[in-house]
Amino acid sequence: MTTKALEKILRVQLAERQIEGILKGRETVICGVKGAQDNWGPRLYLEGQGGKEFLQMNSNSYLGLSRNRQLIEAEEAAASKFGTGPGGVRFISGTYQPHVDLEKRLAAFHHRQSAMLFSAAYSAVMAVLPALITSETIVISDALNHNCIINGIRLSRPAAKEIYAHLDMGDLEVKLQQAIGAGKRVLVVSDGIFSMRGEYAPLDKLVATCERYEENFGEGIITLVDDSHGVGAFGQTGRGTEEYTDAKVDLLVATLGKALGVNGGYVTGSSTIIEYLRETAPFYIYSNPVTPAEAAVACKSLDILEGPEGGALLERLRSLTKRLQVGLMDLGLEVLCGEHPIVPLLVRDTEKTARLVEYLFQNSILATGLKYPVVPRGDEEIRFQVSAEHTAKDIDFVLTVLRQF
Ligand SMILES: Cc1ncc(COP(=O)(O)O)c(C=O)c1O
Repeated sequence: MTTKALEKILRVQLAERQIEGILKGRETVICGVKGAQDNWGPRLYLEGQGGKEFLQMNSNSYLGLSRNRQLIEAEEAAASKFGTGPGGVRFISGTYQPHVDLEKRLAAFHHRQSAMLFSAAYSAVMAVLPALITSETIVISDALNHNCIINGIRLSRPAAKEIYAHLDMGDLEVKLQQAIGAGKRVLVVSDGIFSMRGEYAPLDKLVATCERYEENFGEGIITLVDDSHGVGAFGQTGRGTEEYTDAKVDLLVATLGKALGVNGGYVTGSSTIIEYLRETAPFYIYSNPVTPAEAAVACKSLDILEGPEGGALLERLRSLTKRLQVGLMDLGLEVLCGEHPIVPLLVRDTEKTARLVEYLFQNSILATGLKYPVVPRGDEEIRFQVSAEHTAKDIDFVLTVLRQF
């Protein structure tokens, strides 16, 4: 047995990805963290960079909770009590008290009857879509939905799949009209926050549009939103795009691994749907949950988010986001402004985006460049992500470095 022939093919495919400009290449290895001091936020040490300290402007830990002392202590306490891993899937050997507690907390946080944990938000979406999409279901999906939604739909066997233009509720309505008579059930699915540009789906309009057509489908129109970037980072109290747009969808998926500072994913909705998913979703039945310690930490994240500290962190996040946006505009740069801490600096040129990312790196700033073909030509950008861990001094440092480019 040899894999030589296969490896030859794979090497060609990797080389092709490099030529196309979509090869991710070597990952940056973070080998140390320096805590905040002297009005500077934390700094990272990277493998191969000696003692150079990097400011991270590309993390999804929007509230900086992943390094929060209370969370670390909660994790240590739960690991000491329950051990490090769940030891099996939940229905056989692995449902721990923190899993149950967290599900109750998440349901209450989102004003739902029930919630269900998964090892990741990606798994949650991959589980929920095929479970609810039957051969008589029409799926209608935003054109720029996250990869987990695309693959979740691929794993399903719908009667038909329709894509509406990004954020275009008029086009969603057209697709709903066209679906009449073609299936018993419709499932409309969208990201809450779209991670490329930090835009939000107008969920109030999305729900209202679906309601207008609901009676045309015997099994109704189900709305599912993945707000992984929104929960904990967006909306007055961090309840995400639903809160920002004053809407409530049928099923909400989100991650514990971004603003909440832990790891894992979940879905919230009615208790009947969640009960059905627990019985049928293979990503739940045949795959380990998050560790009991991770679940305990996520409960602590919710304690913080729902308390005065959470309000202060969100306020700080909004203020730092605004500081960066205003500063970039003062430099005459093109920036997309919203309340979400993803701040896209539009460069609109692939080669210049690559040069700018490298320049920022040389100047100790980690930021993500989104280039063609990942984004269409002309939409190339540097994506900055603000965190409540940053300081005004950090933001001003980024602006000073950019001024000199
Ligand atoms: C919309 C969306 N869903 C899911 C995920 C994945 O979350 P997790 O890491 O919990 O699987 C992401 C992460 O980028 C995301 O943006």
